[in-house]
Amino acid sequence: MCGIVGYIGFREAFPVIIKGLQRLEYRGYDSAGVALMNGAMTIYKKAGKVSDLLNYIDGKPTNGTAGMGHTRWATHGAPNDKNAHPHTSNNGRLSIIHNGIIENYGPLKEELIKRGHEFHSDTDTEVLIHLIEDIQQKTGVSLEEAVRMALHEVIGAYAIVILSQDNPDELIAARKGSPMVIGVGEGEFFIASDATPIVEYTKNVIFLNDNELAIVHRDKLVVKTIENIEQTPYIQELEMKLEMIEKGGYEHFMLKEIYEQPRSIYDSMRGRIIAKDGFISLSGLNEYEEKFKNAERILIVACGTSWHAGLVAEYLIEDFARIPVEVEYASEFRYRNPIITEKDIVIAISQSGETADTLAAIELAKSKGATIFGICNVVGSSIPRVSHAGAYTHAGPEIGVASTKAFTAQVTILSLVALSLAQKKGTVSKTRLVELLTELEAIPGKVELALQSNEQIQVIADRFKDSRNALYLGRGYNFPVALEGALKLKEISYIHAEGYPAAEMKHGPIALIDEQMPVVVIATKGAILEKIISNIQEVKARQGVIIAIVTKGDTEVCKMADYVIEIPDTEEALVPLLATIPLQLLSYHIAIMRGCNVDQPRNLAKSVTVE
Ligand code: M6R
Repeated sequence: MCGIVGYIGFREAFPVIIKGLQRLEYRGYDSAGVALMNGAMTIYKKAGKVSDLLNYIDGKPTNGTAGMGHTRWATHGAPNDKNAHPHTSNNGRLSIIHNGIIENYGPLKEELIKRGHEFHSDTDTEVLIHLIEDIQQKTGVSLEEAVRMALHEVIGAYAIVILSQDNPDELIAARKGSPMVIGVGEGEFFIASDATPIVEYTKNVIFLNDNELAIVHRDKLVVKTIENIEQTPYIQELEMKLEMIEKGGYEHFMLKEIYEQPRSIYDSMRGRIIAKDGFISLSGLNEYEEKFKNAERILIVACGTSWHAGLVAEYLIEDFARIPVEVEYASEFRYRNPIITEKDIVIAISQSGETADTLAAIELAKSKGATIFGICNVVGSSIPRVSHAGAYTHAGPEIGVASTKAFTAQVTILSLVALSLAQKKGTVSKTRLVELLTELEAIPGKVELALQSNEQIQVIADRFKDSRNALYLGRGYNFPVALEGALKLKEISYIHAEGYPAAEMKHGPIALIDEQMPVVVIATKGAILEKIISNIQEVKARQGVIIAIVTKGDTEVCKMADYVIEIPDTEEALVPLLATIPLQLLSYHIAIMRGCNVDQPRNLAKSVTVE
């Protein structure tokens, strides 16, 4: 949550910072602010989006070749002007932007108040800049040293940038538990929460590590640990291209990302399979082959949509590799004293690679000796760095807050994990493996076909856009799809939606069904289609309205359903990759028709870096 940008160099800092904040707005959009250094330090901040900040600044001076900016997802303190970042020290000569949470801000604040500090916001962040100032005043040390000393006193997570009126040609940045990338240009440096604000200026980046501090001047960057040990930073080249983070003619990032899925699914398996030979290679998995083969169980930890991908994996891995799987909400797992042994493999799934609960679950599992396999989309993010091994999904940057292409890419990788394990353990025959991989290779083309239902889905969306509730039902591999469909609808259209295993409906949710209740049923071809047809009849008997996702050529479900959306035929285990597509489109169109901001739904942020 929260996006931070810093710049020091030869360009005007303001446009670089504003463009960067607009790119990072997916991380939070409760307020925005900038600090610019032009002899004196100028700060502008405003509740609302970056566009509100721009309106507020309109006509005011914005000169300066050093500065920083922040877009906020509120944790401590309401989303108003006074809580917007940057925050300043008591004497106003230091300012800070911060992504994360200072957990012990309460006692620190009390102590600082006793020492005469006056606070102007309700945030945890403001405490840190007062603390730095206090240390400097007490001890007379340099700003860098004061920052280091202050960071030893705080508990929590942070990615911070600090500007000082007294050191106008310097930015100080530090991170612990929140992401930070530094772009290395010629005579200029960029700092950001991810690479998107940087990519159009330089491809050379440094991913700052936890407990590192960067002292940044126009022509020099020094990285040290907070123990004051100088580091040799590793400069790596970004693979990201500018067009990947632009809308490319689509009205919204979410729609663009839905339509990118044929490509992103293909990219997820590119170079990893040769279907006709029954060949699969996931290097991270090969490295830990013996561990995986001998695992008595696999634990999966994730949140939100990534957790739904984990649930699909439970079916896949148990079906094909015959290893017991437990899928856990990372936020529950980390606090319930789970039984973890050295024999356990923990698969952590995360688009952003920064989700605080998933990271904490990994740390817990690691401390008990488990082997961690991370499946993430954002290259260089925290989860891949703390995992023993893993696989990137290669879906490309996902900017829409509602996850779409990341989910299908995760399911693709998890299908490869399941099949690779099955191959290693000999639990599927070569012939069957070739069949499954051949079908997996055909999935991108079939997603193209599924996307062709877009116009028909718009008609259905128009019919249901004013619904207050919706029920999503599925069984087997389609149960996680039902959960994911419901999550997509609720998060972007604010319609209350529940995903349920279809047969569980009669144990409670059936009471909700009447002629007002749209029931989306994923009723594709497969071993339990007859069972789900019975569930549809139960809904129809109570006047529920059925929207069915069926396999092309279906002749049974369409007789009962009020609305039918066809998807191409595929292997039952791969249906989630197709059935999810119409549900993404349905939620998108309903949200648009209700006038919702699909890319930045209220109260949400793309990467949840607080617990
Ligand atoms: O980055 P992660 O995959 O770890 O994020 C997990 C969830 O926060 C995320 O999937 C969230 O549920 C999305 N908004 C769903 O669309």
